[in-house]
Amino acid sequence: CGIVGILGKEAVAPQVVEALRRLEYRGYDSAGVATLENGLLARRRAEGKLKNLEIRLSNEPLEGLIGIGHTRWATHGKPNETNAHPHATEKLAVVHNGIIENFRELKVELEADGYVFKTQTDTEIVAQLVTRELDRGKKPVAAIAHCLPRLRGAFALAFLFQGEEDLLIGARNGPPLAVGVGDGEMYLGSDAVALAPFTNLIAYLEEGDWVVLNRKGAIFYDKANVQVERRARRVAAGSMLVDKGNHRHFMAKEIHEQPEVVAHTLTHYLDMAAGTLRQPFEPAVEWKGLSRLSVSACGTAYYAGLTAKYWFERLARLPVEIDVASEFRYREAPMPENGLALFISQSGETADTLACLKYAKQERQTILSVVNMPTSTIARESDAVAPTLAGPEIGVASTKAFTCQLTALACLALAAARARGTLSAEDEIRHVQHLIALPGLLAKALELEPEIERLARELSKASDVLYLGRGTSFPLALEGALKLKEISYIHAEGYAAGELKHGPIALIDEDMPVIVVAPHDALFEKTASNMQEVAARGGRIILITDARGAAECGITPEATIIMPEMDPLFAPIVYALPIQMIAYQTAVFMGKDVDQPRNLAKSVTVE
Ligand code: G6P
Repeated sequence: CGIVGILGKEAVAPQVVEALRRLEYRGYDSAGVATLENGLLARRRAEGKLKNLEIRLSNEPLEGLIGIGHTRWATHGKPNETNAHPHATEKLAVVHNGIIENFRELKVELEADGYVFKTQTDTEIVAQLVTRELDRGKKPVAAIAHCLPRLRGAFALAFLFQGEEDLLIGARNGPPLAVGVGDGEMYLGSDAVALAPFTNLIAYLEEGDWVVLNRKGAIFYDKANVQVERRARRVAAGSMLVDKGNHRHFMAKEIHEQPEVVAHTLTHYLDMAAGTLRQPFEPAVEWKGLSRLSVSACGTAYYAGLTAKYWFERLARLPVEIDVASEFRYREAPMPENGLALFISQSGETADTLACLKYAKQERQTILSVVNMPTSTIARESDAVAPTLAGPEIGVASTKAFTCQLTALACLALAAARARGTLSAEDEIRHVQHLIALPGLLAKALELEPEIERLARELSKASDVLYLGRGTSFPLALEGALKLKEISYIHAEGYAAGELKHGPIALIDEDMPVIVVAPHDALFEKTASNMQEVAARGGRIILITDARGAAECGITPEATIIMPEMDPLFAPIVYALPIQMIAYQTAVFMGKDVDQPRNLAKSVTVE
């Protein structure tokens, strides 16, 4: 979804629509605008593309010098006019991008207080929650300060209040939000591109920030409601379309986009309002009688597949064979009759992966692909496509495409499990709840960046780094080592923690950092023993775990990165973030070309 807010000098509805047009790439299920006409809230909304809203507005124009707008990509509730944003009560209107995770419990609470809901959206809960504070006598700014900490999930919000002609409030927890500074006019937008026609003086909200706008300027608050400074900078006109936001590199921007793009990917597969997999589930694949799933991919996409192997086998009891595409293509591997072959690729153009796809076709396999580029060759050659909705990934080192691949694969594994009768309805709901919690957890994990930046200074002095993990943390150890070597050029290796004593332990000394990925899961104790082995040999351990893991690891690591608590099954999706940030911060500290590392290419279309 895309959101806009404008405090203008003349009627703002046409400007809001112009900004929305630039955000249509974020979704176009429905769109809407709200303004204040003589202090009173007025709204126009329409199902479908922005064009429909424009027609509506030309028949029933909106006056007013202040307004908010939205272009929607449905998460909760059908894409009809009732569910279109802005959502409003008698006191305010709100537009929202993202997911409010705890909307059900808030709804129960508000209904008990007599608040009545008109839509199936999670956004209306925000509108009513703030309205209750206004009803209790709070002023808008105090009401927002009170309500934001109650919202869980990943979201960007913009509020417009009845009778308040010089006030807009925006909030960010995950998806980006930009503030544009004009001449006696102020703007809010999901990105700077949306605001380009009006101003190029842009400030960005940091994670957890909220902002109070009037025509004279903006006051920013952090998540503890402490006033903070967020400087506005000129954004060069030519760079607007490939805007890095307030990030130094595309890779950083893409790392920070993960709460939002993982949420997008989830909404493709899940019915968020019902808390279940979508029914019918797309892509429709015949999972039931399968004897085996064969997976091939390259690089980071291969590690996504390796993680998914644990999910398919455990949840769906489906045996998985997986190999890097460059090996599989020449192995002349026998493939089962009526088998299913899965290919994972961000670009959808990787030559080795495509060659495997062709081989699998010859072997009469059904072809399923997980791709980020819907028009790519791999997508076109497939019988069924499971999309990742990561958006364009520009940094050569894959980040958001990886977590979106994992997200899509987790949903596919659940769908396979349901079809194969290995998943009860209660377990489906439980797993889906854990998936819905991911964007919020990703936003929390991003808050670890300052700590990781300090750690990266130490890591940059190393010439070799070892990564260890067990179970679903093993592919992450491989991915961590790949990320670090590709952008910092420090030699790194990932190992299954249990393999430590079969070789790599010989390398352990006081110079080599050992990064251990170990959420407190069923295998934690096993990994803790391996950490003991490293510690006993004077090794330097950097532990990525949660509070319980930190308390029970039995050693004193050189550094511990404490992740939020979460269910362990899909934890790799969240634990990918510290792994990515470690590589990124180390490379930046060393002054490397993070977005275009030497010798590498984003899409490898040669063998
Ligand atoms: C290149 C990229 C990697 C990517 C791999 C597979 O090596 O640098 O980031 O993981 O190709 O690319 P694909 O587009 O098939 O996911």
